[in-house]
Amino acid sequence: MEFKIVLFCMFLFINIILSHAAMNKFTVKSIKSQDGDVIDCVDIYHQPAFDHPLLKDHTIKVAPSYHPEGSNNGKKQKVPQIWQLSGECPEGTIPIRRTENGAASMTKKKPIFSSSISTDADVQLRHEYAYTQTPTGKYFGTKAIINVWQPYVEGSREFSLSQLWIVAGWGSTLNTIEVGWHVFPQIYGGSNSTRLFIYWTNDGYRTTGCYNLGCAGFVQTNNQMAIGGAISQSEITLLVWKDQKQNVWWLQYNGVILGYWPTTIFTLLKDSASLVQWGGEIINSSPNGMHTGTDMGSGSFPQAGPGKASYFRNLQLVNDANTLISPPNNLGGIATNKACYNINVGVNSNWGNFFYYGGPGKNPNCP
Ligand SMILES: *[C@@H]1O[C@H](CO)[C@@H](O)[C@H](O)[C@H]1NC(C)=O
Repeated sequence: MEFKIVLFCMFLFINIILSHAAMNKFTVKSIKSQDGDVIDCVDIYHQPAFDHPLLKDHTIKVAPSYHPEGSNNGKKQKVPQIWQLSGECPEGTIPIRRTENGAASMTKKKPIFSSSISTDADVQLRHEYAYTQTPTGKYFGTKAIINVWQPYVEGSREFSLSQLWIVAGWGSTLNTIEVGWHVFPQIYGGSNSTRLFIYWTNDGYRTTGCYNLGCAGFVQTNNQMAIGGAISQSEITLLVWKDQKQNVWWLQYNGVILGYWPTTIFTLLKDSASLVQWGGEIINSSPNGMHTGTDMGSGSFPQAGPGKASYFRNLQLVNDANTLISPPNNLGGIATNKACYNINVGVNSNWGNFFYYGGPGKNPNCP
């Protein structure tokens, strides 16, 4: 009798925990991950992308029509994520990390202003950057190897991220595709794990723009990798390219295709990008009136070098012939608050175009 009551209480307790966040619609199966995440395996034809009015009649693309690396040899590689220890999502479903309520993932990002520090409407939230970028041109994608850390994030509204930006337009016409890793406790129920994220906007973050699958638009095709799930590798390889036959921007992560953004959701990124950027960004909420101690990258300045400083290496671009090419060698580094976070750009034979970037935030020179 008592045992039954205990069991019943446990059942209630587990249900309260699981139902704290709303289950995704069309969930076929749910998996409770050891790291605290709940993964819903959602019917691929009922994934969030299909909530987008322009994607109602969209037919899912199974594979790209070509690949800028020649081929991705069609191997069904596995991308390790902790939740996979507790189960897998069946064919015909995609793993979606259950969010607290979806609302937080609407948190606006900010475009990079190359010559000034951008500020949120809430003046307290200051975005700071250390990044490099291409000259203005016509680009069909980018590939990069990105070093992964777990930066300390101080304020509850702050984040630290490292990402690539594929950009067209400016101001209210700004279109972006953004992919990288971040620590952003506010949108992951307080978790400070380093996670893969994606993001897009087609109006300069005005009415569009949110993380992962939070806004309808990205069509996921992979049933092994949850976007927004924790990353355990120390380096990740990202490749985003425009398939000019299919009119979609494909995303490949560590050699595995995750899905795509149909160009119908964009205005200016329907054709090509005019700019590609790579680097780090943090939010400084000025806790206690001081600069935040939130780390960018590893939390070390670029001059700390190998093993200490965070880097991007083998930066490449996809040109209009769908070929991977090196960017120009004179990419400059831009840091919006050098005493707090900085960047050093270089070229060598192993790492091609690369840069070290980051910093500790608050320090004697950055009070
Ligand atoms: C992450 O959070 C845990 C638990 O609160 C804490 O012990 C740890 O120091 C944090 N790590 C970082 C890098 O902030």
